[in-house]
Amino acid sequence: MKRVVSGIRPTGKLHLGNYFGAVQSFLNMQSEYDCYFFIADIHSLTTHPTPEDLHANVRTVLAEYLAMGLDPAKCALFIQSDIPAIYELYTYLNMNAYVGELQRSTSFKEKIRSQPDNVNAGLLTYPVLMAVDILVHHADYVPVGKDQQQHLEMTRQFGNRFNNLYKTEYFKEPEAFSSTGKLVKVPGLTAQGKMSKSSGDADTIFIDEDDKVIHKKIMRAVTDSGPEKPGEKKSEGVQNLFDLMALVSSEDVIAHFDKAHSEATIRYGDLKKQLSEDILTFIRPIRERIREISADNAYIAQAAKIGAEKANASAEKTLKEVREIIGFKKFY
Ligand code: TYM
Repeated sequence: MKRVVSGIRPTGKLHLGNYFGAVQSFLNMQSEYDCYFFIADIHSLTTHPTPEDLHANVRTVLAEYLAMGLDPAKCALFIQSDIPAIYELYTYLNMNAYVGELQRSTSFKEKIRSQPDNVNAGLLTYPVLMAVDILVHHADYVPVGKDQQQHLEMTRQFGNRFNNLYKTEYFKEPEAFSSTGKLVKVPGLTAQGKMSKSSGDADTIFIDEDDKVIHKKIMRAVTDSGPEKPGEKKSEGVQNLFDLMALVSSEDVIAHFDKAHSEATIRYGDLKKQLSEDILTFIRPIRERIREISADNAYIAQAAKIGAEKANASAEKTLKEVREIIGFKKFY
């Protein structure tokens, strides 16, 4: 059976970008593939969370994974720091990742811009840790959003380099994957590119957020002053609202607003009201379930425990084999 691995950093609540970029594929894949889905809490240390925030954020994402429908009986659902083999493999793979290529990664360059006071070595070697997450379980597919494509390319590079160095075919080449056929980029509301927590609260719609807050954010989304004549191209902000509609609204609704835009009769207020309603219809049942599961300590604890057991079994096997390939041998 094909292996699937993916993870999300616990930096707070999950948003629509996480859902449509990643979790939707997780849900589609969990019954058909051998899946390993995790919470990348070691990765999140690059932003220096307090111990309280770290724990609370991991718990939030775990409860949200479960509420969205990930089933611990079908997939290994685990927390990255529960897998000791990850730290050791990270050390080994760091030996054949070159500083130059790490410095050229888009996400590293972006971090230098966004957090110039905290350009730590963990940020530089972030792609190595991500490669370890994937290679340790011999993944065939990695369901992720479009923003992670370069990291997948680096993962293949590190795996192949290990293979060449040790003259083996041990690691296979994983592929970035979307169960819907195309890697997704969910736009934010402020016309600054992808939806992302780091681009601010007004940009991002969280799954576990109240109706009023979501409605307000959408009504304030960046648009333009409206098409002046038929057939005008959509501005970035307006296109983003249509892209969001494509995720949650019916085809009829989208066709209606598309026609209104091309005929220059559109009222953005109506478009936003409809989008807000459709997003809320999508979110409400998940939000309710998040609140139920968040109150169920025993279920959360049990899920984390069985996930760690499954993931450790797979990771320990890889670690043992990698140590042998590298040439570590005991003298006693
Ligand atoms: P992270 O935590 O930033 O995002 C988690 C997942 O959500 C997707 N995503 C989006 N997809 C589409 N549109 C958006 N606006 C959007 N925002 C977020 C991301 O593509 C991702 O799939 N490095 C990873 C976490 C990670 C990982 C891994 C992923 C660590 N190890 C191993 C896969 C395999 C990250 O920071 O994702």
